Amino acid sequence: MLDNLSMGHEKAVRWGPLAKVDLRDRDGVLNVFKEYRPEAVVHFAACSFVGESMQDPGKYFANNTVGSQNLLDALVAHDVHDIVFSSTCATYGEPDTMPISEQTPQHPVNPYGQSKLMVEEMLAWYGQIHGLRWAALRYFNVAGADPDAEIGEEHDPESHLIPLAIWAAQGKRDQLSVFGTDYPTPDGTAIRDYIHVWDLVQAHLLALDFLQADSGPLQANLGTGNGHSVRQVIDTVGAVTGLEVPSLDTDRRAGDPPELVADARRATQQLQWTPQRSDLPTMVEDAWAWFRQQS
Ligand SMILES: NC(=O)c1ccc[n+]([C@@H]2O[C@H](COP(=O)([O-])OP(=O)(O)OC[C@H]3O[C@@H](n4cnc5c(N)ncnc54)[C@H](O)[C@@H]3O)[C@@H](O)[C@H]2O)c1
Repeated sequence: MLDNLSMGHEKAVRWGPLAKVDLRDRDGVLNVFKEYRPEAVVHFAACSFVGESMQDPGKYFANNTVGSQNLLDALVAHDVHDIVFSSTCATYGEPDTMPISEQTPQHPVNPYGQSKLMVEEMLAWYGQIHGLRWAALRYFNVAGADPDAEIGEEHDPESHLIPLAIWAAQGKRDQLSVFGTDYPTPDGTAIRDYIHVWDLVQAHLLALDFLQADSGPLQANLGTGNGHSVRQVIDTVGAVTGLEVPSLDTDRRAGDPPELVADARRATQQLQWTPQRSDLPTMVEDAWAWFRQQS
């Protein structure tokens, strides 16, 4: 595991060693490859706050794009061929048509999405020129927790809806802000496609097998194709926890599309991947089991 611990937690590293290295440190990354000789790489490291990227784009291009280039160069230098990359639905921007398939044009509307799209483009060139075998998995909204409740979401600041709703229910923050109640959706709140982290992990394992079978490259959405509104999430958190979720309706946030839902058929077909835990109640139950242990 390579991580600079800017956002990550050492206690979450359960299996194998941790190299505390920043991807922007080119020599440091090369040394990790020299020391640990990985067979393949799964590349999660990134800054991922859309709002921050609109304030400080340079941080996103340096960390996410240049950092990834250092990583790709280390793969090439050490003859490592396979890489699975955490991409995002933010590479699509604000498409007019739903669901979003991999053919939907990628027009990011913030530096975060752009920084990730640039990595996808680098992967294609490194694949063509250096023979890297790669998969870019475009996550929609990741949710849930380890089903054994050992590892859960611990972001600071937290920006994800389910943790924020649970905190509000637990009284750890005053109330949950509902950004926009006048969207053209059935209940007026924004709709997103949530995917359980457990199912996401399974997709990564399948993607590694896919690459090692020389079946790549692969660009695939990871979502379920089922959207849930902010209100539905709040109601589910209330039902699962048995607690009230205090919320406050506020204005829409700039750049928040009404609906982002994946067409995830490519991942299901190419990887034989079937989400098992990504129904909304299970995601909230698993998140709740973890959060309850923290208090
Ligand atoms: N969580 C989601 O809903 C979601 C959706 C789409 C894409 N993604 C992508 O999935 C990946 C993981 O997301 P997450 O929600 O777990 O975020 P996270 O912030 O919890 O994890 C990112 C990790 O990368 C590390 N990191 C950041 N910059 C680094 C650097 N320069 N060098 C070394 N380590 C560095 C952080 O310390 C952290 O442990 C990210 O690439 C993110 O863009 C997440």
